Amino acid sequence: MMDPRGVPVSYEDITALEDYEAALLQLHRFSYDPTPAMESVIVSHPDFALAQIFCAVCIASGSAGRYVPEMEAAITRAEEIGNLNEREQGLIAAVRKRCAGDWRGGQLAIDAVLARYPRDTLALHFGHQLDFLLGDALNLRGRIERILPHWDDSNPNYSHVLGMYAFGLEECNMFEHAEAVGKEACERDTGDTWAHHAVGHVIEMMGRHEDGIAWYEGRESNWATGDGLSIHNWWHLCLYLMEEENYPRILEIYDAYIAPGGDAEPEPLADSGALLWRLMVQGVDVGDRWVANGDRWRQLIADGEGGFYGFNDLHAAMSFAALGWGEDLADLEAKAIAQAGQSHTLGEISREVSVPVVQGITAYGQERFEDALDLLNAVRPVLARFGGSNAQRDVVDQTMLSAAIRGGLGERAVSLANERITRKPHGPLARRFAERAHAVN
Ligand SMILES: [Fe+2]
Repeated sequence: MMDPRGVPVSYEDITALEDYEAALLQLHRFSYDPTPAMESVIVSHPDFALAQIFCAVCIASGSAGRYVPEMEAAITRAEEIGNLNEREQGLIAAVRKRCAGDWRGGQLAIDAVLARYPRDTLALHFGHQLDFLLGDALNLRGRIERILPHWDDSNPNYSHVLGMYAFGLEECNMFEHAEAVGKEACERDTGDTWAHHAVGHVIEMMGRHEDGIAWYEGRESNWATGDGLSIHNWWHLCLYLMEEENYPRILEIYDAYIAPGGDAEPEPLADSGALLWRLMVQGVDVGDRWVANGDRWRQLIADGEGGFYGFNDLHAAMSFAALGWGEDLADLEAKAIAQAGQSHTLGEISREVSVPVVQGITAYGQERFEDALDLLNAVRPVLARFGGSNAQRDVVDQTMLSAAIRGGLGERAVSLANERITRKPHGPLARRFAERAHAVN
């Protein structure tokens, strides 16, 4: 049968498809984890192969490395059900590439699916997230542009395609277009937390922090629901509040919404540490908040996440450096070096980006500021390869500035501060960095 977007499904049960579509909506909105809903669909419809594939794609769209057995089990069950159509086989091929560490191969496998089925939003979601995880801004935008002529507002989930497009445009610095598309997506589905997030990015990159606070506070009921992207959206609100030095409010938000639980996944854990690190760079006392962050990274690394994916390694390194946990840093570096010996995408990332970044953060933690600055500066042109957004990777720029200032490297501090203030001439944070940089001379 066909789904509501005219994409083929190899299972003939309209009730199952309706339940599948409800979980797919959750996936696109990034509000709630859609996996429990899809698992209950599987209980009622054990021969629904696409539901199995969906669960594998949900995991594959995140950054964690330790769930490869779960992904492989789900796609094996789908293959055992049999009678898969070409589209479903293509999705499985992409998941297999992701499982093997060949994330670029996963992107290409999704390209092939979308070229034939341009309204396959499960494939589009998976591809968009792989593009994000690889810092591939051109594909974040281009992947959506390649399918957009096949879409109009009569197709279900059109708004979610616009939400993805807004983020891709933003990462390509096409801010005005991104804001218009993102706001249209938010109006079409007020519960789409990804689209709200895309607009939040635009406002952040344009240095309009007062607009950002108004955007997030005025629409809290739209983006702060669920266990999906809400933590990350709170993190974005805190970035605007950093501009205003409203540290009490930031710490209040941190404690209420961002502080990691003992079972935190790498993404929210990275948000937590990235915020604490930014506060530390500004000299804010964050008390003992690092400890829960570091404890959880330590567990995740013991479970196989260490050295797996560079963006997470950066955040684990920041946590251990802040806590002065030298043995953990050395262990993380060793794991990143081991990953760098692999020939797949993740090995390349580790070689080119993760290892020098971990070494740079280690040097910063040891107050070897010139070493830290040299290491991070050398890797800066290729930093995007380890994923994340422009806004997230700014933590490395802030670390470089801090290293130059604290290391007494006045000319280099002023040079970096010039770059920041030229881009954000009205940004209070940029001005504060500039004042500190000039005070070094
Ligand atoms: Fe973000």
